Amino acid sequence: MAVSPDKHTKRWIRPLPKQVINKIAAGEVVERPASVVKELVENSIDAGSDRIDIIIEKSGTKLIKIVDNGAGIEKDQMEIAFARHATSKISSFQDLDNLHSYGFRGEALPSIASVSRLRMVSRVADADSGYEIIFEGGVLKSLKPIAAAPGTVIEVENLFFNTPARRKFLKSESTESRHISRIATAMAIGRFDLAFSLNLNSRSIFSLPTGSSLRERVSGILAPNKKFVSVSFQSDKTTLEGFIGVPELAQNNRYGLYLFINNRFIYSATFSHALKAGYEELLPGGKFPIGTLLLTVDPAEIDVNVHPTKTEVRLSNEREIHDIIFRAVRDALRQDGIIPSFRAGHGFAGSRSSGDASRPRPGASSVIPGIGVNHPANTEFLSQLYRHPDNIEIGQPIAEPSGEHGTVRVDTHTGEIIEGPTTEPADHTGPSGGFRLVGRFADLYLLLQSGEDLYIVDQHTAHERVLYEQTLERVDRQSADSQQLLFPVQIELSPVQFAVFEDSTELLTICGFSAAAFGGRTVNINAVPALLSKKSPERLFGKIIDDIASLRKAGLDLKKAVAQSIACRAAVMSGDRLTDREATHLLDCLLQCDNKYSCPHGRPTFIKITRQDLDRQFGRE
Ligand SMILES: Nc1ncnc2c1ncn2[C@@H]1O[C@H](COP(=O)(O)OP(=O)(O)OP(=O)(O)O)[C@@H](O)[C@H]1O
Ligand SMILES: [Mg+2]
Repeated sequence: MAVSPDKHTKRWIRPLPKQVINKIAAGEVVERPASVVKELVENSIDAGSDRIDIIIEKSGTKLIKIVDNGAGIEKDQMEIAFARHATSKISSFQDLDNLHSYGFRGEALPSIASVSRLRMVSRVADADSGYEIIFEGGVLKSLKPIAAAPGTVIEVENLFFNTPARRKFLKSESTESRHISRIATAMAIGRFDLAFSLNLNSRSIFSLPTGSSLRERVSGILAPNKKFVSVSFQSDKTTLEGFIGVPELAQNNRYGLYLFINNRFIYSATFSHALKAGYEELLPGGKFPIGTLLLTVDPAEIDVNVHPTKTEVRLSNEREIHDIIFRAVRDALRQDGIIPSFRAGHGFAGSRSSGDASRPRPGASSVIPGIGVNHPANTEFLSQLYRHPDNIEIGQPIAEPSGEHGTVRVDTHTGEIIEGPTTEPADHTGPSGGFRLVGRFADLYLLLQSGEDLYIVDQHTAHERVLYEQTLERVDRQSADSQQLLFPVQIELSPVQFAVFEDSTELLTICGFSAAAFGGRTVNINAVPALLSKKSPERLFGKIIDDIASLRKAGLDLKKAVAQSIACRAAVMSGDRLTDREATHLLDCLLQCDNKYSCPHGRPTFIKITRQDLDRQFGRE
């Protein structure tokens, strides 16, 4: 270790040698082999190439070779390209606000050259020959003419050979390879119009032609033959386009997500948050969507000069962009219906406005015999279960509003039909818009048939979704039903629970709780939401507070956290047995939800197996 000079030693202030400065800069620009790939490919794109080949050996520690067919470099510019802050891309500070190239610092080549053995061969199209330049540890070794095709070839060998500490800190080969794959994929998506190939450790990872569309490129690289949903937005200043994978393609990590601003691959917490939020509850907590979003904004709105690797950007109107992305993604997923056959075949979505009076409206009927038979004390909850928000009120007969489908009334206490059709349709197809309950499994899954398709419904998640949306709606209308407790209960909360309670008292009240602090951390509960009136308030309240705390931690806003918790606690559980009518009607209610495909936690509410799927499984096709 170096010994510090004592204070009597004479100190000279002098500029550092060029190679040392470059090596220090390399510490910032060249973090790992993938950063070299990124810088070099960006240079190739800036040079106007339309074909870029990337060849990597030993995860980049042995060789990183980039071959392009771009403009090339003139002989007398070859050495200057490796001088620090030498760039052909900007010449004034103003240019920084109006960047149309990836490069602008003039740092990449000198930095890379200083920590490797670098050979570059370049030829401009109209020169008779190319030139070769070789550096070792930033020291120029040779510059001479050489026969070459137009364009540039760079070979970076033995990366970090002279910075052992950095070399040692490289992760495993597989990690470095993954970073390289990711960056190469990003470049190939960002410039989907160019031809790209990646050969990584002697394996061809992709080889993509010029002239692809964004959709072809994204699905070609990320998930061939899978469904991607188109996202787009346009205003005079901002455009957003992209393709995002359906929820089933979600992964446990963020690596399938490629975000760009003005063609620059970036990492932005705001950006990915907005994208994920757009999936609403379609994705469970730890899952991340795959796909890509390309945002184009006025270059004056962004500052890319935040981080030396240029992977972070600062946006002057971050909030606005967040909202644009969130909405565009949400609307795209909603519009697309995600499971397309729902829209096409059976008239679920949109059947209300189809004008087809012969087909009963999904969820319209409330014919529910047997209430109070399977769940003798549970009429309250069942009336919630079968309530369509705008036609049934707690404590009143469940009724279909009079209209084209006639009126059906059921007494919530006895479950008797008191008006309307008195005979149950033979196959339940009426009330459920084409569904027939064909079986149950494990007192949790309901098996329903519609046309040639089989639907397996998780009764808990499905019910949770229904109650969640109803609760949210009631919160918005401030009209939740409350059930006064005959005997108010007192419970003692932990300090953390009490803090959550104080935070959420107002919303809990809107949802139908009446609970107030009663000295210390004791809370007096006088009323609970009607949905929960059959549960033990002592146990329930603490659980709901805990749910809220953990959902908040996971980033959910308070309203959604409270609604989720109530819905989850009130929903039918595995083991609760529903009658046939209840089951088909649950599906009716579910299909009227804004987001029918998953529960608020992101678990699926049902899966569909087509006849074709089954036939295939049995080798009938
Ligand atoms: N593949 C290439 N084809 C043609 N010219 C190139 C190529 N690579 C580099 N150059 C030239 O060399 C110069 C220096 O490249 P370098 O990457 O060091 O800086 P930059 O791209 O201008 O800025 P940055 O450091 O932000 O990348 C470029 O400005 C460009 O003129
Ligand atoms: Mg560059």
